[in-house]
Amino acid sequence: MMPEVTEGDITLLRAEAIVNAANNSLLGGGGVDGAIHAAAGPGLLKECEGLNGCATGEAKITGGYGLPARYVIHTVGPVWRGGRHGEENLLADCYKNSLALALSRGIKEIVFPCISTGAYRFPARRAAEIAVGTVSVFTAAHPEIRVVFCCFDAVSAGLYRLLIRKQSPGNRS
Ligand code: AR6
Repeated sequence: MMPEVTEGDITLLRAEAIVNAANNSLLGGGGVDGAIHAAAGPGLLKECEGLNGCATGEAKITGGYGLPARYVIHTVGPVWRGGRHGEENLLADCYKNSLALALSRGIKEIVFPCISTGAYRFPARRAAEIAVGTVSVFTAAHPEIRVVFCCFDAVSAGLYRLLIRKQSPGNRS
């Protein structure tokens, strides 16, 4: 199954797992991370305190607490520092490692935000290309897992839809 796109607030989604664009401490922050912690409540922070942080590009899993989602997969995107510090590979690692973790837990549905494209300033179009490319390789090998991109605005949702259409097997343009 090709990845899908939805637009809006990821904390409202009744998905099996949503992904958090966290920082290395896993102890909360602003943006989507702040929204997830606010909606999940203090139980999430408590569980995160026991995780000992997370390296950039890696992923860890917790419960969803007060969220409609059952699990939160926390991954840490790279801070954009011009593109010559391994940022592209690290961003791809976020998607790969989140998907591998979901697979290892038998999770069948995972929703991603646009990791690193807010406070971490990764260029949105390049980030979308990496996200769609990496996820499409995975979903081709694991069609049993549903992957959704949750875009916060209409412009990025349009961009993701376009890139997914370009990737689809029947498209030769
Ligand atoms: N639902 C979906 N997407 C959202 C939401 C939401 N509720 N809120 C923001 N976005 P960012 P980063 C989009 O800054 O760049 C935090 O402080 C937003 O429009 O949340 O990976 C962490 O603790 C953007 O497209 O994450 C880290 O310190 C995307 O989510 C740092 O920010 C990512 O923006 C991580 O920075």
